[in-house]
Amino acid sequence: MKTLTVLSRKGGSGKTTVSVSLALAARQAGLKVVIADIDPLRSAAEVVRSRPEAASLLFETTASKLFIVQDACRQNGCDLLVVDTPTAPEPDILRAVNVSDFCLAVARPTALDIAAIRQSTGLIERSGCPGLVVLNQCPPLREGQEPTLVRQALGQLHFSRLPVARSRLRNRAAYQHAFAQHRAVTEWDPTSEAAADVLKLLAEISESLALRSAPAGETTSPARKLMERIAPFFAAA
Ligand SMILES: Nc1ncnc2c1ncn2[C@@H]1O[C@H](COP(=O)(O)OP(=O)(O)O)[C@@H](O)[C@H]1O
Ligand SMILES: [Mg+2]
Repeated sequence: MKTLTVLSRKGGSGKTTVSVSLALAARQAGLKVVIADIDPLRSAAEVVRSRPEAASLLFETTASKLFIVQDACRQNGCDLLVVDTPTAPEPDILRAVNVSDFCLAVARPTALDIAAIRQSTGLIERSGCPGLVVLNQCPPLREGQEPTLVRQALGQLHFSRLPVARSRLRNRAAYQHAFAQHRAVTEWDPTSEAAADVLKLLAEISESLALRSAPAGETTSPARKLMERIAPFFAAA
């Protein structure tokens, strides 16, 4: 089982959107996925709580109980545990990072988010956990080129040793429509651009997980399984 934590010290950057979208897309691809919502606001829980499979999909918990959640997930044959975190307190976020196999630091391509993301990337780097910075709510491409905001953000992110994900999530109303129906964009409209964004990010993460964590010759790790299952979706997107 792999544990993926999504974090950012800035509210509204998209932690819940990213974590729930990835978790539900991986579940749709056939993986056994659990979401641990450790944010007292319970936004991730709000999205998935009323789904028929919520009892096996969601833990509304706290950072200090993540170890117990991980044990329960392993015993139930879970492939992927996705942790949605609060903006604070830092010790809670650090606890989640410390039990993770991979972390995503989410930021919008704005000066304030990029300034704030240093705290998250620093925390991930110090923990030794591999991870990526994900740019969320990006304006659309202009004639195939990244808009100025994204290019500036990428320039400012050079300070970070954590790589920036090649896949970016654009600002799309599909996330709101899908979540209002307690679904992911990949379920709500699998042909939408938002769904394609999410699947590309999922494919990129599964690639990183496999590269960094699967022992040489390992062909059955959850990360490899995820990669194989995501590949057809990725090709379709
Ligand atoms: N890529 C996106 N496109 C459109 N709206 C988004 C996107 N990402 C997040 N949002 C919206 O921004 C708001 C904050 O996102 P959320 O995921 O709750 O952030 P956080 O969990 O970091 O506080 C929500 O209303 C959400 O629907
Ligand atoms: Mg949230």
